[in-house]
Amino acid sequence: MAPFGALLLGWACAPAAMEPVGTSTGGATAAAASSPAPSATVWALASSMKGWTRANAKRFPSAGHWFGKYDADVLVNDEARTSYASVGPGQSASVGAKIAEVHVTRDGVKGPIFAMEKESSGWAYVEMDSAMRVLRRGRLSPCVECHAHVAAQDELFGVPLNGK
Ligand code: HEC
Repeated sequence: MAPFGALLLGWACAPAAMEPVGTSTGGATAAAASSPAPSATVWALASSMKGWTRANAKRFPSAGHWFGKYDADVLVNDEARTSYASVGPGQSASVGAKIAEVHVTRDGVKGPIFAMEKESSGWAYVEMDSAMRVLRRGRLSPCVECHAHVAAQDELFGVPLNGK
């Protein structure tokens, strides 16, 4: 397998790899950009998320989601904190781990929020709008297809961490 950095660079240089997120055929951007159904409910973890730990030292440009459009912060709950700090081959998060990536434009406009919730069956992916209303949840494509590139490290890419 290519080194992680090379993989990531590969995506950054290949917007086509991200198109599933931005097409109108059920991609994440299309859903996030459209108005949610009136029935869409706010994520159950929206308020507890405010007490989670930010894993990245500084807000960083998201390489994986809408290349170039958003900066991001990644927030982790207590169950995820230790394992996320050492994302790598063979590492995995325990059931109960929750991770949220919050996207913000460089002008400070809130973007969509993406989350992963570790269940006994694996990660559930959650796609939300900027008001944290859940648009879709589950083993979502294209989330799963792209995060599968790092299946060997529990489907986690990792971010620039504190002090590193
Ligand atoms: C084209 C590849 C790609 C797709 C599609 C994608 N992601 Fe990601 N994701 C990444 C990359 C790369 C990162 C590392 C941080 C960054 O660049 O934003 C990441 C980071 C994350 C994180 C922080 C945890 C981690 O892996 O380090 C969460 C949560 C997340 N993504 C959720 C989602 C959800 C939910 C979807 C679908 C709605 C999704 N992602 C779709 C590539 C992708």
